[in-house]
Amino acid sequence: MKNVTVINHSVVQAKLAELRDVKTPHADFRRLLDEVSAPLVYEATRDLPIKSRRIQTPLTKTEGVALSREVLIVPILRAALGMLGGAQTLLPEALVGFIGLARNEDTLQPEWYLDKVPRRLGRFEVVLLDPMLATGGSAIAAGELLVQRGAKSIRFVHLLAAPEGIRALRKRFPNSPIFTAAIDSHLNDDGYIVPGLGDAGDRCFGC
Ligand code: PRP
Ligand code: URA
Repeated sequence: MKNVTVINHSVVQAKLAELRDVKTPHADFRRLLDEVSAPLVYEATRDLPIKSRRIQTPLTKTEGVALSREVLIVPILRAALGMLGGAQTLLPEALVGFIGLARNEDTLQPEWYLDKVPRRLGRFEVVLLDPMLATGGSAIAAGELLVQRGAKSIRFVHLLAAPEGIRALRKRFPNSPIFTAAIDSHLNDDGYIVPGLGDAGDRCFGC
């Protein structure tokens, strides 16, 4: 599918299987989510814009590159907190904004409880983190806020995606790339990804 990248990397896939395993306790789940997030963000930021710069090595002058735009990482609470450390391993200088959204269990609609995102986003490449893309409601609500604030470039980074969520996000943001370790079969009647890994926030934090 256009603009959707499945990160089919052996290490990522092995960690994903551990994350799916119901027997994985929350401390291990959090560690694994942190570990798997670095390669996901690595792939998602592969084509960040760069500019050339002259550098002096200990031996000679040469050409190198620098990122030409600032990066803003935005995790959607709670579950994406478990991805933040991995993302920051790769991008320690990135600014971090926070979005708090909780899906209403009856309507499956996302409900806002936190907006700690800078007011003006035009100068940033935004990396939006959320382990689960289920109906797509949370990622779309977050993306709409970012666009309202002037974001021109958003990369959506997920651990798992349902086809329903990909279709919805694709429709609303056709030009924003989506990265995920897997596209699962479907959503069940309660809006959970199948086979999935359950409730990512609960798996991460134990409740
Ligand atoms: C989960 C997950 C996503 C959302 C995905 O969060 O972390 O944010 O559901 O579902 P959607 O694509 O249908 O919107 P949840 O709302 O359960 O909150 P939590 O992270 O605090 O558990
Ligand atoms: N949110 C989760 O945490 N898990 C799902 O399977 C769907 C939405």
